[in-house]
Amino acid sequence: MVILRVSERTLDEVSQRLKIHEGFYDGFEIEFESLEHPEREDWGSFFLQAKGLRILSIPRTLVHHAGPLIELSRTLIKRRLFDMVRVPYEKNQSRGTIQDVLEEEAHADGVGVIRSIDMQNIHGENEVDTYPPKLTQGLVKEKDVLHLTLNPSGWRELGPFVERVILDRRKEDVGIRKSFTLEGPYGFPFQVLASRLGSCFTFTSPQSNGPLVDPITLHTVYRYPSFGPQTALFGIIGNPVLHSRSPHLHNRGYEALGIDAVYVPFPVDDLESFFSVARKLKIKGLSVTIPHKESVLKFCDWCEDAVRAVGACNTLVLSEKSIKGYNTDVEGFLEPLKRVFPTIRGVNALVIGAGGASRSVVYGLVREGARVLILNRTASRAETLAAETERTLSLSEGTISAGPLDREGIALVKQLKPDLVVQTTSCGMHPKEEEDPFPDLSFRGQEVVYDLVYAPKETLFLKRAKAAGCPVIYGDAMLIHQAFRQFLLFTGKEYPRQLIEGI
Ligand SMILES: NC(=O)c1ccc[n+]([C@@H]2O[C@H](COP(=O)([O-])OP(=O)(O)OC[C@H]3O[C@@H](n4cnc5c(N)ncnc54)[C@H](OP(=O)(O)O)[C@@H]3O)[C@@H](O)[C@H]2O)c1
Repeated sequence: MVILRVSERTLDEVSQRLKIHEGFYDGFEIEFESLEHPEREDWGSFFLQAKGLRILSIPRTLVHHAGPLIELSRTLIKRRLFDMVRVPYEKNQSRGTIQDVLEEEAHADGVGVIRSIDMQNIHGENEVDTYPPKLTQGLVKEKDVLHLTLNPSGWRELGPFVERVILDRRKEDVGIRKSFTLEGPYGFPFQVLASRLGSCFTFTSPQSNGPLVDPITLHTVYRYPSFGPQTALFGIIGNPVLHSRSPHLHNRGYEALGIDAVYVPFPVDDLESFFSVARKLKIKGLSVTIPHKESVLKFCDWCEDAVRAVGACNTLVLSEKSIKGYNTDVEGFLEPLKRVFPTIRGVNALVIGAGGASRSVVYGLVREGARVLILNRTASRAETLAAETERTLSLSEGTISAGPLDREGIALVKQLKPDLVVQTTSCGMHPKEEEDPFPDLSFRGQEVVYDLVYAPKETLFLKRAKAAGCPVIYGDAMLIHQAFRQFLLFTGKEYPRQLIEGI
């Protein structure tokens, strides 16, 4: 069940919020502390028109300072205006507290209880292991819910929670329903996957930049109602990664082809902790982005040649027995080029930049038979990349030229007369929109200019090339083509390319 958590100042505003999200939630939870004057509100009229499961959330602060609001909560429970009441509970709570009183009264009045426990600072196994059966004492089977929350600071905290609390079925308490909310960026994928992982509630917040996934994104991007425990799980690891467009692209592909799968972003700060639970989560495939493209190599049991040659991996296919590594950046880069050049053999190519992306570009171009010149701000990096690529492809020394981004570089460009210029630096990429990596480079007008930067779509560098009459290729073409090959590796099916216009 998708629960919309509403924190508005008045019940009128709550009504408006519910109306906007109609069709995207099964129930809602009112956060009591957000209301300015809860005692003045007309609760009876509000509930005449409110649809879905109704949950009253008692704030943690209220149970410590019992007063008029606690009395109001008790009245609302007595009038059975809510179906359930969420009561904050301490891990080591003694009996006879206001929480016990609220729970007993709710039970007496036929209102369900959600016993909510903050699992922050669970460091040792023992602490995690205390939660059932101790924390479920007094709850009513099939009616109440044990709700566990955590705002993990990273995978070292998240991993044990996922492993021991979410995935360990030995801890199932007969008949007591469970739900969990993992807040913050590291918790995001588990908000999306809550129902797949056995949580009876998926808590959401209304704004797309709120503390929890918003229900409209949950439905439209992740196709929430369509996935269950058997749904195949794919994702992307990186940090940060929540801004990635990959979930939109992959999930749309699954939908169009009727594949029972979901793709979510996993912000990962610690690969060891992540991989220790990745198989248990039954993740079948992962895209890999900055900063993990090199560091994931040590987790691979097998890698394709391009991964070893480039020293970076952007795709993992996981099975029970192995993790296989692929690099789809190379093909993703070459694919749009092959539409412009009937063959890459003999093409004179200038590559600007010698960072991670440049490695895939240089390897792809040289492997396909292009003559390559690498120019980089730090010339020594360009020279090292040239020498390494020569060794990888068993080419003689000096096959690939290298130089700096200055007058010496301009002279080398004049000699080369490039048919193709590839811009691989981060210049032009948000927030460096105003930067041009090589302002002294002038275009002849015939050369094809390919900029790997995809946000914004058109960089200053490409604008200059276009003004000189050069045909251009945008960075998003590479981004999309590398995803096509990932999709094929993940699902065994071609991506339905008609979904994406203009590639
Ligand atoms: N379209 C796609 O699918 C795709 C795929 C991968 C990457 N990319 C994009 O490609 C860009 C580079 O990524 P990366 O992973 O290669 O980054 P990286 O490893 O950090 O390399 C950055 C490169 O940019 C150069 N550079 C940075 N600032 C510069 C400046 N002010 N003037 C001149 N050169 C400068 C660096 O030169 P030094 O060596 O001198 O520092 C280095 O060559 C990013 O914008 C990324 O988003 C796109």
